Amino acid sequence: MRVLSGIQPTGRFHWGNYFGAIQQYIALQGNEQSFYFIADLHALTTVREPLALREYVWDAALDLLALGLDPSQATLFRQSDVPEVTELMWLLMTVTQFSLLEKCTSYKDKVAKGISADAGLFTYPVLMAADILLYDSDVVPVGADQIQHLEVTRDIAQRFNHTYGAECLHLPTARVLKEGAKVPGTDGEKMSKSYGNTIEIFEAEKPLRKKIMSIKTDSLPLEAVKDPDSCSVFALYQLFASPEQQAILAARYRAGGMGYGEAKQAVFDASMAYFQRAREKRAELVANPTYVEGVLQAGAIKARAKGKEVLKRVRQACGLGAHAG
Ligand code: ADP
Ligand code: TRP
Repeated sequence: MRVLSGIQPTGRFHWGNYFGAIQQYIALQGNEQSFYFIADLHALTTVREPLALREYVWDAALDLLALGLDPSQATLFRQSDVPEVTELMWLLMTVTQFSLLEKCTSYKDKVAKGISADAGLFTYPVLMAADILLYDSDVVPVGADQIQHLEVTRDIAQRFNHTYGAECLHLPTARVLKEGAKVPGTDGEKMSKSYGNTIEIFEAEKPLRKKIMSIKTDSLPLEAVKDPDSCSVFALYQLFASPEQQAILAARYRAGGMGYGEAKQAVFDASMAYFQRAREKRAELVANPTYVEGVLQAGAIKARAKGKEVLKRVRQACGLGAHAG
């Protein structure tokens, strides 16, 4: 069974990305053939600074490896290192209804947010379909916001198969990541790069503490009884602490006499402890760029071998390539 997923390198990964997605991808890596890629071609729809993009891609590789992605269990590669994906995208585009893409809410949302309505942004789901179909993927773990793109992928694959032969493209299924953990940001809204309220996983200690101390709370005085269930500081603490630790802090909220500063300090300590091993691992990786680049290149070779095989099949099905003679 092939598990495949991609993650866009559009900035440093934050706690929301980790608990909402990365942690769950990594948990699936033991599957026979897991492919994970850094979706740099997709990121080009929003990141227009080459130096920044290169850094984001590198950071993504370091972060994923530091957080436990194990190259001996899963294949990690850069999307753009497999150029076959863009050729497949074109072939898929020729059977993709314009109206199908017009229905995509993520395109509409991005344009509403002020992102330029380029053809790349509009056809983003077709590149995503190519990512998935190029490797005969069976299962695609994604956040709920990507389910529509999976439906588009299946729709395009079905149309292609209907046109060129039933067995040509393998239909994938989505595995929706559990929604439970909607991580709040420093302003209490959903943590997201686009809201500027993120706490990065590998933030240096000092700015990390500063960000945690800036988390918005109500302005109850120190002695007041407080409600852990409506407090973002407590919600964040829950991500890192054991049930026993959570019960202790909840009791302190309810007893009164504890200020939010103390709860924030608990979040800082718990998050540092939680990611300590990953921080150490990341520091080792930073010191060993040749190893990291080697992992990406070995991943690309493996992914490319599979991609070439599928593209060959698809090209033949459409009538491309040399005349049989
Ligand atoms: P951002 O909103 O910061 O741009 P992305 O949209 O790139 O993040 O998200 C990448 C993955 O991380 C998605 O699968 C998404 O579901 C998950 N994710 C992002 N923010 C959160 C959050 N605050 N809580 C839970 N999951 C999140
Ligand atoms: N669009 C996905 C996101 O923003 C990233 C992505 C690109 C992806 N290609 C993919 C996810 C293929 C799964 C499969 O989260």
